[in-house]
Amino acid sequence: MKYSKIIGTGGYLPEKVLTNYDLEKIVDTSHQWIVERTGIHQRHIAASNESSLTMAEEAARVAMAAANISSADIGMIIIATTTPEKIFPSTACLLQQRLGIAGCPAFDLNSTACAGFVYALSIADQFIRQGAVNNALVIGSEVMSRVVDWSDRAVSILFGDGAGAVLLGASDEPGILSTHLHADGTHKDVLFLQNALGKPTGLETELYMQMNGKQLFKLSVNILGQLFDETLAANHLQKSDVDWLVPHQANIRIIEGMAKKLDLPMERVAITLDEQGNTSAASIPLALDKAIRDQRIKRGDMLMLEGFGGGLAWGSALIKY
Ligand code: COA
Repeated sequence: MKYSKIIGTGGYLPEKVLTNYDLEKIVDTSHQWIVERTGIHQRHIAASNESSLTMAEEAARVAMAAANISSADIGMIIIATTTPEKIFPSTACLLQQRLGIAGCPAFDLNSTACAGFVYALSIADQFIRQGAVNNALVIGSEVMSRVVDWSDRAVSILFGDGAGAVLLGASDEPGILSTHLHADGTHKDVLFLQNALGKPTGLETELYMQMNGKQLFKLSVNILGQLFDETLAANHLQKSDVDWLVPHQANIRIIEGMAKKLDLPMERVAITLDEQGNTSAASIPLALDKAIRDQRIKRGDMLMLEGFGGGLAWGSALIKY
């Protein structure tokens, strides 16, 4: 049986940092409120010459170096992004051109928002398991700073920019054990970002992200708890078999609840939220990359990845690293 194994990871964060104290000068908020309610201290903001494409390329090159493979070895590129470089061509095609590897399939997952990375990972995993692809580059890259209304204190404080990349390679040894994807469009109004094509007039404010934070909080706690049960049951495993939780970085209170649900101490949770905020589809690969690079996550560890976001869409991946 063939598995996809993580053979390299990479991350990129823009140089500019926006602290909660900086935000105090823009909207009526405080460092203390933001830390207490979210766990976020700062976030990175892309420069005007940076984009989901440039950040994806940086992260991809780091992941390729970590895996010690060249671009010619890549058989598929998927970029999860809510903030693509263009509507088309896909950011993945633009990256493919930069990597000089014409021919392999390359596409974006645009509207799975913060669940985008687990969706992309799941798709790449299916191709590798089937034997259609040997190495797949799976990236989450986001410039959230360009889709938030900086005068909306309920939303702007949460998000940041960045990119994370994972290189998957075919292996006979267990890697990704299973992935589980879900969506429920009845919650379409809880979190959304309109575009000018869907509603051509009178939508100026809706061109920024709209969110019902309280409702989203409650929904996420419910769906993620069920998701863990489903993921463990599918693999005939117990909570005690999980070594690391690598969650989407939305709110420290949600993450703490999820760690509790898995009986994991917070030392066993990959956290970047305090330094990076919510980078949407980039948050899981960025957290994974950091914990692998500083050698907290080690080969053989069992990882539970989970993501959720607009749609509502959510999903998990259980991985033997
Ligand atoms: N600074 C100071 N006060 C703020 C504020 C800010 N940045 N944002 C909101 N407030 C105020 C509200 O106006 C409200 O005031 P009121 O009581 O006078 O009406 C009060 O703080 C409480 O607001 P509320 O929205 O109830 O706070 P909350 O405890 O639900 O926290 C979130 C808000 C957004 C942090 C929280 O709901 C959350 O994280 N939800 C999930 C969001 C998420 O996961 N998004 C991404 C999904 S991919």
